[in-house]
Formats: sequence, structure tokens, C-alpha cells
Amino acid sequence: MVQGTPFLLVLSMALVAPSFSAGKCILTGHWANDLGSNMTIEALNGKGEFMGSYHTAVTATKNEIQLSPLQGSQHSTNSNSQPTFGFTVNWKFSDSITVFTGQCFVDEEGKEILKTMWLLRSRVDNLKDDWKATMVGTNVFTRLHSRK
Ligand code: BTN
Repeated sequence: MVQGTPFLLVLSMALVAPSFSAGKCILTGHWANDLGSNMTIEALNGKGEFMGSYHTAVTATKNEIQLSPLQGSQHSTNSNSQPTFGFTVNWKFSDSITVFTGQCFVDEEGKEILKTMWLLRSRVDNLKDDWKATMVGTNVFTRLHSRK
């Protein structure tokens, strides 16, 4: 009986371990970021491409914020674990465009997290103002409703 204990220990570890490493990060769903912005990513197609919508909590303009479309893609060779991705938001209430690039991670508690960097390109009136037209930043997104 005592001799069997190490065997049972190893067996139970072997059975439990895969459930820790099996965490998949899936882009589809509702997300919120550290600025309070919300986005929805629709189902990915066979090529890893997706569409969605973005409601920003902040704006560099004085315009009224409106829900805006996004389009992006996830890297196809790493789609089953912690994929890299990128998407573009074409703002409906300004002349600006934002591109996000990032990776979908599963943290130690099994929670999905999107770590992103973005470039926000604003329209300027002339070439001389080009130097001030692009902002850069980071956003961290977490899922709004946990997956079942
Ligand atoms: C604009 O101000 O012209 C459009 C809205 C830009 C919102 C930016 S995009 C990067 C950052 N992350 C957000 O969630 N919102 C801001």
C-alpha cells in the first residue's frame, strides 16, 4: 500500500497537469480594456480573419463617440494556444484609424488577457503637421463575460 503511494501521486499529477497547460486563448467574445473601452470580436473564419465592433471610452477629438467597426486576423499557425493577432479600427466619428497588434494569453489563473500595442493615426491638414499625427500606446483587455 505504502509502495503504491508514489505511483498514485505521479498518476494524479499526470492527469491534472494537462488541464493547466490546455488553456486556450480565444479572441471571439466581449472584451474591456484598461481605459474602459469595450470591443466585440465575432467568430473567426477559416483563415483566422475576423470582424467586430469597438466602443472607445476616450477620444482625441471633440466629436461624439460612436460604435466603430474593426477588422483583423489571427496568426494561423498558433491559433490553438496563445495566438498573435492584429486589427484595425476605422473610427466612424473621426478621420482617424487605429491599428492594434497583440497576443492572446492565458494567465496563471486560467484567465484570458490580450496584451496589445496600438498606433492611432489622426488626419492633419498638411504635410508640415505629419510629425504630430501618430500616437502610440498599449492596452490590456480582459474578457467581459467568462467562457463556460
Ligand atoms: C479618435 O479619437 O480619433 C478615435 C478614437 C481613438 C481611441 C483610442 S484608440 C487607442 C486607445 N485605446 C482605446 O480604447 N481608445 C484609445
